[in-house]
Amino acid sequence: MEKILVLDFGGQYNQLIARRVRDQHIYAEIVAYNKITTAEIVNAGYKGVIFTGGPNSVYDPASPHYDPAILDAGIPILGICYGCQLMAFMGGGKICAAGEISEYGKTEVKHTASALFGGVPESSVCWMSHTDYVKTIPAGFIVSAVTAHCPCAAMENAEKKLYAVQFHPEVTHTAYGNQILHNFLFDICGCAGDWHMADFAETSVKALREKIGDKKVLCALSGGVDSSVAAVLLHKAVGDQLTCIFVDHGLLRKNEGDFVEETFTKTFSMNLIRVNAQKRFLKKLKGVTDPEKKRKIIGKQFIRVFEIEGKKLGHVPFLAQGTIYPDIIESGKDDADTIKSHHNVGGIPDVIDFDEIIEPLANLFKDEVRKLGEALGIPHELVWRQPFPGPGLGVRLIGRITEEKIKMLQDADAIFREEMDKAGCNQISNQYFAVLTDTKSVGVIGDKRAYGYTVALRAVTTDDFMTAEWTRLPLEVLEKASSRIANEVKGVNRVVYDITSKPPATVEWE
Ligand code: XMP
Repeated sequence: MEKILVLDFGGQYNQLIARRVRDQHIYAEIVAYNKITTAEIVNAGYKGVIFTGGPNSVYDPASPHYDPAILDAGIPILGICYGCQLMAFMGGGKICAAGEISEYGKTEVKHTASALFGGVPESSVCWMSHTDYVKTIPAGFIVSAVTAHCPCAAMENAEKKLYAVQFHPEVTHTAYGNQILHNFLFDICGCAGDWHMADFAETSVKALREKIGDKKVLCALSGGVDSSVAAVLLHKAVGDQLTCIFVDHGLLRKNEGDFVEETFTKTFSMNLIRVNAQKRFLKKLKGVTDPEKKRKIIGKQFIRVFEIEGKKLGHVPFLAQGTIYPDIIESGKDDADTIKSHHNVGGIPDVIDFDEIIEPLANLFKDEVRKLGEALGIPHELVWRQPFPGPGLGVRLIGRITEEKIKMLQDADAIFREEMDKAGCNQISNQYFAVLTDTKSVGVIGDKRAYGYTVALRAVTTDDFMTAEWTRLPLEVLEKASSRIANEVKGVNRVVYDITSKPPATVEWE
């Protein structure tokens, strides 16, 4: 299998580089610069190497350096940002602090004829972010691009297939970034681009098998995309050595608990322990109305239930989690204000007696996880399900949580989702659901005065859920959903549509 090495010097876009390579159907491995030698790179048969960016200056004693012999190893290399400066430095060039000519943001770059810039207009917009620049290029190199301020925006030694760019081709702000990467991968490295997610599944299964051997693995399954894909991957690797625990807190969508149980026990024949803990959660949530308190209680009880079940299994060598790459970025940001205490499986490791965590999806982005899920044969309905918060309907039910209100919300939500899907609105909205408000109002049902709850419908369109627009739904869909909910859900007599974007609102109501 042809593969590219992304040699990691600590930059912020390194995963993105690997992802862009995978997008072009070439497998990319990220390895820290100090974890692999030139000889190992040569022996591993990489078709090419990409030096990533990094926060340092090459003259800084603490900065990451690499063995210059790599430049003579006959492997094509693309240096990006710090990787560009490092390549120049390794080859005997000079780097300078850019001072006033530091560039940050979209910058016009002009290039000369080069294999790296095939199909790219002579002048195009690139994303720059640097405070150092290459002042003197190494012997054997030529400057292949400049900006108004930077005399070396790209350099190359075409004979040795060494290329470097000061800008970031991996970010979308670089207009022809994908083309530049494509040129490097296909025209310079000679890749064929025949790698697919099914190959990733195969490679991961093999690696997991080797790592786990004949030992046991425990996985916390929520029924969401990430933990489901991780569980199926592990099951393919080690079969019955895997046990999944699925905690049903009673705050799932209509019929969801049964769907998850059936999928994993029937379709995949997995060892699944479903813990029906609805009563415990309801008891602990009784009378609680404060959203943060609800979240904390649900999170705490989730861990408590997992602990009780986990202890029954005794010591397990491996605990598997469906952590994906964006989770790692998000959890790294500890200076952000806590808007909502997100509930996930982060607390579980403390309460289970295990030796090691396995995170088979840690390098993948969400859409890649979905592709992998499809390659593994996971039902479409599960692979493409919308995000669902860990505390479940607990944060979509305003005020006190009771069994009766959960049922009302589940029914209203199921109707709304059904109508949205029937009308094809799942193509224009990334998340849609019903909220049971705590407001009661007067209505008239069958000539009689009714005093019932108000359901709010929410549908948002977003790329990353950090910001979101309310979805401009066709009125007929709203009308149908509203009329069905008011007629079919006992206790509800009014339906409203939430037309607030995020910010200032959040996607969920609590
Ligand atoms: P907010 O409400 O913060 O939601 O705008 C953004 C996205 O995150 C989901 N969400 C959660 N996901 N645990 C999760 O795993 C949580 O506690 C949680 N709270 C919100 C929400 O559904 C939306 O997709």
